[in-house]
Amino acid sequence: MKISIIGAGNVGSLTAMRLAQERIGDILLVDIVKGLARGKCLDLEDASPVLKYVYKIEGTDDIQAIKDSDIIVITAGLARKPGMTREELCCKNAAILKEICLNIKNLASQSIVVMVTNPLDLMTRFALATTGFKPTKVLGLGITLDAARFANVISRELNIPHTDIVTTVIGSHGEGMLPLPRLTNIKGISLEEFVSEAKVQELVKKTVARGAEIVSLLGSGSAYFAPSAAAAEIVRAIAKDEKRILGVSAYLNGEYGLKDVCIGVPCRLGKSGIEQIIELDLNSKEKEALKKSSASLQEQYKSIKL
Ligand SMILES: NC(=O)c1ccc[n+]([C@@H]2O[C@H](COP(=O)([O-])OP(=O)(O)OC[C@H]3O[C@@H](n4cnc5c(N)ncnc54)[C@H](O)[C@@H]3O)[C@@H](O)[C@H]2O)c1
Repeated sequence: MKISIIGAGNVGSLTAMRLAQERIGDILLVDIVKGLARGKCLDLEDASPVLKYVYKIEGTDDIQAIKDSDIIVITAGLARKPGMTREELCCKNAAILKEICLNIKNLASQSIVVMVTNPLDLMTRFALATTGFKPTKVLGLGITLDAARFANVISRELNIPHTDIVTTVIGSHGEGMLPLPRLTNIKGISLEEFVSEAKVQELVKKTVARGAEIVSLLGSGSAYFAPSAAAAEIVRAIAKDEKRILGVSAYLNGEYGLKDVCIGVPCRLGKSGIEQIIELDLNSKEKEALKKSSASLQEQYKSIKL
């Protein structure tokens, strides 16, 4: 199994480390900056004798090396800088991704693409359009991370082990994120029954603000430990044909009453990529919120001008 990771920055190199050290496949790390991916891979390889097991990881600045990859994770791109609008970031990252996606189309037409670059749902939709791949083969990491954050916030605030918590988050990865307390449970008890309405709202608010909280504490850049763990979880589910149900940004064609949008919903993941889109039984308020999140994404997608 050949797994290529494009972008050897914080998220890309940590994802490479996790996948290599779990021996999920042969890992290739690619970055446009000369020497960066190779340097990081030599460093990662040097850990092998200390860890006392062997794994294969290679770094390059030559995108041609992704040829015949089975899975490609895209983490290449910019993070939003002060003063940069979301639309500007969107256009800049789309310009970076265009070339990458055309290379994927030509060099690895059988691969499954896992998008990480932000704005996540828009870049997933853009990669789908640019590669021309089947919608089952292009998916984005967003709400798996948000669901982990929701579980961690609940665990810390209520002093419950996260192993007893199952969270559900849908919608876009960003302001349109929808943590669903009704479909989040602690050993089968809905979060809505477990704590007061005010506490539920506080937990949801903390979860939605988590990414921005980390950005402001770091001073520069954004989160990468949890994002890389979530990216590795998605790749593992595909590589090992686990059939796990994880939240990913998926192309909807009528599911949830939505069309022509990539947005976060629970999906069954296996060796073919998205093997099933799970349609949750949403109430009218939840449906309305998802519709709003989707409409906003569709509007923003129109702003991509290359
Ligand atoms: N979806 C999520 O949940 C999630 C979470 C965290 C970060 N992100 C996003 O992931 C992206 C990467 O984040 P990061 O913290 O690793 O950033 P980073 O700046 O550390 O790394 C980005 C890397 O991409 C490389 N790059 C740029 N253009 C390239 C190209 N054409 N080919 C190959 N490599 C190229 C850069 O040289 C850099 O090394 C950002 O867009 C960030 O917003 C998404």
